[in-house]
Order: sequence, then structure tokens, then C-alpha cells
Amino acid sequence: MSTFPDHLDVEAVRADFPILTRTMRNGNPLVYLDSGATSQKPVQVLDAERSFYERHNGAAHRGAHLLSEEGTEIYEGARAKVAAFIGADVGEVVFTKNATEAINLVAYTMKASAGDEILITEMEHHANLVPWQQLCERTGATLRWLNVTPDGRLDLDHLDAMITGRTKLVAVTHQSNVTGTIPPVAEIARAAHDKGALVLADAAQSVPHQPVDVAALGVDFLAFSAHKMLAPYGIGVLFGRADLLEAMPPFLTGGSMIEVVRMEGSTFLPPPQRFEPGVPAAAEAAGLAAAVDYLSGLGMSRVAAHEESLTAHALDTLREINGVRVLGPDTTKDRGGAVAFGVEGVHPHDVGQVLDELGVAVRTGHHCAWPLHRALGVQASTRATFYVYNTHAEVDALADGIRYAQRFFGARQ
Ligand SMILES: Cc1ncc(COP(=O)(O)O)c(C=O)c1O
Repeated sequence: MSTFPDHLDVEAVRADFPILTRTMRNGNPLVYLDSGATSQKPVQVLDAERSFYERHNGAAHRGAHLLSEEGTEIYEGARAKVAAFIGADVGEVVFTKNATEAINLVAYTMKASAGDEILITEMEHHANLVPWQQLCERTGATLRWLNVTPDGRLDLDHLDAMITGRTKLVAVTHQSNVTGTIPPVAEIARAAHDKGALVLADAAQSVPHQPVDVAALGVDFLAFSAHKMLAPYGIGVLFGRADLLEAMPPFLTGGSMIEVVRMEGSTFLPPPQRFEPGVPAAAEAAGLAAAVDYLSGLGMSRVAAHEESLTAHALDTLREINGVRVLGPDTTKDRGGAVAFGVEGVHPHDVGQVLDELGVAVRTGHHCAWPLHRALGVQASTRATFYVYNTHAEVDALADGIRYAQRFFGARQ
């Protein structure tokens, strides 16, 4: 990988991703526009995971032998890297299975009762919606939500009224996986804290794509998944403010998170170990550390700028196609690289299938954000999402594919 002066050297980046050389259906090259679902992995990450298994595989935090010691060092080293990457203290980084589990950890350990309120938004991924519905069902608390505007922004006109003295927690996405919208999380956090509420940001789509600093955002919790940021599956992160984690009971229990166990009862380790039962995913953590190094090497501001330029090109190009409606903001202001759209007269699944025939990988459906689709007046959409390895030519391939789908299905052009 070369050094990057003030822009991403995309060709150098692409050379790090073996999968991008693959041939897809009908002999077409892969145009991967589904990084919002999961990102591809560079050799640096694949090598880190492989080298862990080849040279250092011992159960972290278990065993008295050298391999276990090395496994522990690698696992804890990954925690320190992740903490620095998001501006947290090392003890504030809890490794989970993914963003979904990180959010569930908070939802299942939070004390709430009838009369309390949880405030979410209509823009949330199901991972930051269903756990709060379930919390409310268990405890009798009330779920409230902020609506979205027709252009896919959060309607913040009633923010002050929606956060009340009874609000326990505000859970909000830091970047929509459908419209790319980046809500003003810092502003929402200030309003929540003024009323004594806690704030959780779902950063599954922001940490991989823009610089994120938990102190600057002012959030109490933040959740994300490694697999969307060039790293392996099976590991995710919950950032939690130290004093809050300290006061929280365990979520999942078992080995590795206990202090003393007697038949009559057990006591638990301090955070973050209190929330990490079982043998840790150390090889995946090694991969995550390599991904953090890779992204830091590129520079997150450059990553964000690259995606902004791809998004601007996509918005301009799709706007030119009759019958295409992009969901969400039509400029890149406070908007990341997720571009969901509808094609008049062609079902999203058919659009996706035609694109797949051409080697263009996109996602179709409601993208785990069903209420958001309803709010925007559609059942489903086709979604292209961009990352460090995508090019303007790939955006053009998407547009050509959409035009081809329109011709194929005899839709208005
Ligand atoms: C905004 C957002 N939140 C949460 C998640 C859940 O991530 P995971 O399935 O890795 O737990 C996703 C995944 O698509 C997402 O896009």
C-alpha cells in the first residue's frame, strides 16, 4: 500500500483486496456495492487472522502457557487500538459479537420501569429498534420515536418536547444504512443530557466511514461491527462510559467474567471483562486491529472524502435517469455513502437481479429498516453502498445497469 497524500490512491487500495479480481456471472468483473451489508477484507487483515492461528493460537485470558499469553496480548492490544481509534479509554471498549449484541447488552442490563421512556427514531436499523421494543415490553416503559422528514432527515422540530424528564435513554443512528443521513448526534446528546437521559449511538455505518470520536460526540454508549470496517465477522464493539459500565450488571454470564464462584453465588470482574464471557474471539480481534491500522493508514478523513466524492457522483448520475427516485437527502451534506433508490415500474428485487447478472452486487429489500421505508412511502428499495475500494467507474456501471434493467422490463426511461 502506498502512502496517500491528500486523496485515496484507489488503485493501490484495490490491489490489497484479493476478492476484487474475481469474475462474476457472465464473465463480468465484480463491482461490489454492498459494503453497507459487509465490507471486503484486505490481505493485511486476512494475514493477521491467519498468522494468529499459525503462530499464536492459545485461548486468551486462559492457560499458563506462552501461546495463551500471546493470545491475550494480541486480544488486549486490539482493544487498545480500537479505543484509540474512537477516542475512548481502553477499559471502555467491550468486545461483543457484533453491533446487534452490543445494543442488546445495553438494552438487557438497563434498569427501566413503567413510566420511563426510551426515545428512538423512525430511521433506525432493526438492531437499534427491536431491542428497545423488547425492553419496553419487559419493563412497561414507553417507546417513543422521532419521525423522519420526506427527504429522509430526522425531524428535530420537536426534539425538546420528545425528550422529557422521564426519558431514560435516547438511541439514535449515527449514519443511516438506507439514506446515508448523518443525524446531529452531538446536538441530540446535549439535549438528552440536559434532561438527564443517556445516549446510545448506533455507529455500525459511521465508524467504518468517517472519523468518530466518542468524546466529541458526547455519547454514553456507541456500538459497531468489525465486519463492516474491513475486519472479520464475529466481533463487534460496545463503547460505554467507564462509570456507567462499572454500575451495570453482567449481560451474558459464564467463564472469564467472574471474580469468585461458589455454589451459593458468584461475583464478577470489573468492566470490560464483566461483559465478555467465554473464550474471546482473539483471532478476529487480531483481524480487527489490522483493519484499524489499515484505515488509520489511509486516514479516516480521506476515507470520508473519497466516499463523499463517490456519493456525489452517484447522486448526480442517478438524478439523470428518468424514473429513478433516490431515497433520502439529494446532496452529500451530512450524508454518507448509502444510496437507496427506486426504479419506477421495476421491482427492487428485479433491479438487483439484473445488476447481479452484470456483476454489480447491491442489496435489495428493506435493509432491516422497515419502518423507515414505510415512512418514505415505499415497501423496499435497491441500495448501493460505497467504500475505500470503489471507483467512479463502478458508479457508472451501476447507472448503466439501471438503464439496462429499465429497457429489459420495458419501464419508462
Ligand atoms: C445502521 C446499522 N445498525 C446496526 C447494524 C447491525 O449490524 P450487525 O448485523 O453486524 O450486528 C447494521 C447492519 O447492517 C446497520 O447497518
